[in-house]
Amino acid sequence: MKKILVLYYSRSGNTEKMAKAVAEGAQSTSGIGVELNFHIDVSDLNDYDAILIGAPTYRKEIPVDFKNLFEEAEKQNINLKGKIGAAFGSYGWSGEAPKLVLDLMQKFEMLLTEPPILAKYAPDQAAIESCKNLGKRISESLINQA
Ligand SMILES: Cc1cc2nc3c(=O)[nH]c(=O)nc-3n(C[C@H](O)[C@H](O)[C@H](O)COP(=O)(O)O)c2cc1C
Repeated sequence: MKKILVLYYSRSGNTEKMAKAVAEGAQSTSGIGVELNFHIDVSDLNDYDAILIGAPTYRKEIPVDFKNLFEEAEKQNINLKGKIGAAFGSYGWSGEAPKLVLDLMQKFEMLLTEPPILAKYAPDQAAIESCKNLGKRISESLINQA
């Protein structure tokens, strides 16, 4: 079974709401495994066909856990080439993090789903729907790949 990881960081719950909506959208397609988590061991990245990362922007940066994750993946030669990648996140005024996540994914030659989804502070209903659609689109594309 193809598997999707929805990995997120969230301090005040805004990106978490987005992550839950992405996972819900992904689960609407039967026959795809979906895991929603805020931590992953780098070697477990191998298990997933799509990696969707929720990254809020703090101090114009991506959360350090994700920086470390990709650094470690590079050190350990984890092959992410050809896996689907996407990013989303809440922000307040500049919102760099999701784009920075996509830049990292691109270095690993992942297949990027663009543009990233951004929500200013708490996601409104339109942002939640965009997140659900993102999850749904990606799980449908995995079904079509199978
Ligand atoms: C200390 C601090 C630094 C922040 N830095 C930025 C920033 O550089 N750019 C930005 O767009 N938002 C910034 N924000 C706003 C957060 O991205 C925003 O509150 C977001 O909703 C947090 O998402 P979360 O609830 O998923 O953690 C900052 C917030 C705090 C508390």
